Amino acid sequence: MVKLLWIAFLIGMVSVLDGQTLGGPMHGKVVVCYIGTWATYRPGDGQFDLEHLEPSLCTHIVYSFAGLDETTLGIKSLDTWHDLEKNNGSSGYRGLVALKRRYPHLKVTIAIGGWNEGSRKFSTMAETAENRAKFIKSVLVFLDVYKFDGLDLDWEYPAKRDGRPIDRANFVLLVKELKEAFEPKGYLLTAALGAGKETMDAAYDMHKLSRYLDFIHMMCYDYHGTWDGVVGANAPLRGTSDDDVLSVEYTIKYLLENGVSPYKMVLGVPLYGRTFILNNDAQDIEFGRTPVQQTGFKGPYTREAGFMGYNEICMEITNKSSKWTHHWHDQSATPYLRDGKRIITYDNTRSIAIKVKTAMEYNLGGIMVWSIDTDDFRGLCEKDRETETYHEFVQSYNRIVDDPIMKKALKSLNLPDAGRIENLSRQRAYVLSNNKLQLRLPTSQYPNYALMHAINDATTLALEEKRILDEMNRVMKQNEIPDEPDSANPFYPRLSPPRIKQMHTK
Ligand SMILES: *[C@@H]1O[C@H](CO)[C@@H](O)[C@H](O)[C@H]1NC(C)=O
Ligand SMILES: *[C@@H]1O[C@H](CO)[C@@H](O)[C@H](O)[C@H]1NC(C)=O
Ligand SMILES: *[C@@H]1O[C@H](CO)[C@@H](O)[C@H](O)[C@H]1NC(C)=O
Repeated sequence: MVKLLWIAFLIGMVSVLDGQTLGGPMHGKVVVCYIGTWATYRPGDGQFDLEHLEPSLCTHIVYSFAGLDETTLGIKSLDTWHDLEKNNGSSGYRGLVALKRRYPHLKVTIAIGGWNEGSRKFSTMAETAENRAKFIKSVLVFLDVYKFDGLDLDWEYPAKRDGRPIDRANFVLLVKELKEAFEPKGYLLTAALGAGKETMDAAYDMHKLSRYLDFIHMMCYDYHGTWDGVVGANAPLRGTSDDDVLSVEYTIKYLLENGVSPYKMVLGVPLYGRTFILNNDAQDIEFGRTPVQQTGFKGPYTREAGFMGYNEICMEITNKSSKWTHHWHDQSATPYLRDGKRIITYDNTRSIAIKVKTAMEYNLGGIMVWSIDTDDFRGLCEKDRETETYHEFVQSYNRIVDDPIMKKALKSLNLPDAGRIENLSRQRAYVLSNNKLQLRLPTSQYPNYALMHAINDATTLALEEKRILDEMNRVMKQNEIPDEPDSANPFYPRLSPPRIKQMHTK
């Protein structure tokens, strides 16, 4: 009898667990995760399959890439074995979409294009209303068959790489007509756009695109690489001089100035770095100056010269017998490693937290990553020891809670535990849950998905920090405290109107 009860209980438990659905990020911003599905062919610990994905870290997952069929002008699989179930294929499409049963918060979309698909075919497809209609019809069938939630356009790039100047206008027509066809079905329409100024000028009518796209995924990376002939940051927060247009901040300002709604802009961050080999044994290196050889070195998994996934970079750092020295380039907010002539510029938890914070200051829609398959998804790397995760947050948070006006603002927020927040922030406690800042202690010396966790934690903290600063502004206004710059208070610059306003006056 007892045995039977136990069995009944166990069956009950199993079915409860079975039916359980799991949630995603709680901060309310989007976290768009691209998967480069060819990661399934990488050797050893670089191999990434659906089973390695942690869907609770993303709000949107983008399957990359489908291609464009030159003759039918329709969307097509580029890897029928991996994407489909035909001939014992691995059913990539259906497998990813099926995750939504356990993770109902997820939106799963398909990206078409990418670097290798080029621009010419897209230029032809977008050229006439008839061609666009063929494409749109094929997309509707495709989305319906595989049950994707929408389409992500990755035409790299209109009006460039064998494209034509007219592509810029035709891209808007394509996006408009797709949106109209999607509306009755509720499908999502997004696009990944290149972030270099030259590309943005030539390829995109930002204002119009922003009207029809649900989200704009800005590819804020590949600003620099060996093609420059000098060492540089893959994704610099700021440029190396005032007229340097190749930076994350410049791209954000450009979009907002050109009529993109901030909440539609999603800031792309790279989960990879760029590698360089110096021409000589220069003592000191300077970004944008120090000459490098034509090609960089490769990582063991991605095997592409000049490129290394974060999962490859962090293995180098973890390796006790490696000789990398650790550096931080302040202007671009970029970490880099050096071993003799070899350099890796990349993004880690610290640089990513700074980017996230910037995105939140501009009220952007969220963060996108290229690509989740090069985070340390297996948890093989040691915790980032050199760069303190969220360093900048901790510092500014401590300054906030020491500020007398801030203390008043905290009280007026009616947080029952304002004192606790002060205390916890000093102990590096900074994850918001149930309206309290709570300590987030790393549970493992080898945490997995370090960068994705950094994105979610930094988003939560940045939003909280912003909420408190906004409240502080309100309290200041109420008390008619003179609102003039106070060099003694480090927060005054950040309390001034968002920097975009200053750009309009240029
Ligand atoms: C698929 O796999 C099964 C079992 O391994 C095998 O019997 C069958 O012949 C395979 N079908 C094709 C089309 O390869
Ligand atoms: C660690 O680094 C050393 C020296 O660079 C290298 O010979 C060795 O293969 C590396 N080990 C691993 C596991 O990558
Ligand atoms: C904050 O910390 C101080 C010193 O550790 C302690 O005396 C105080 O009670 C704490 N405040 C709260 C609200 O926990």
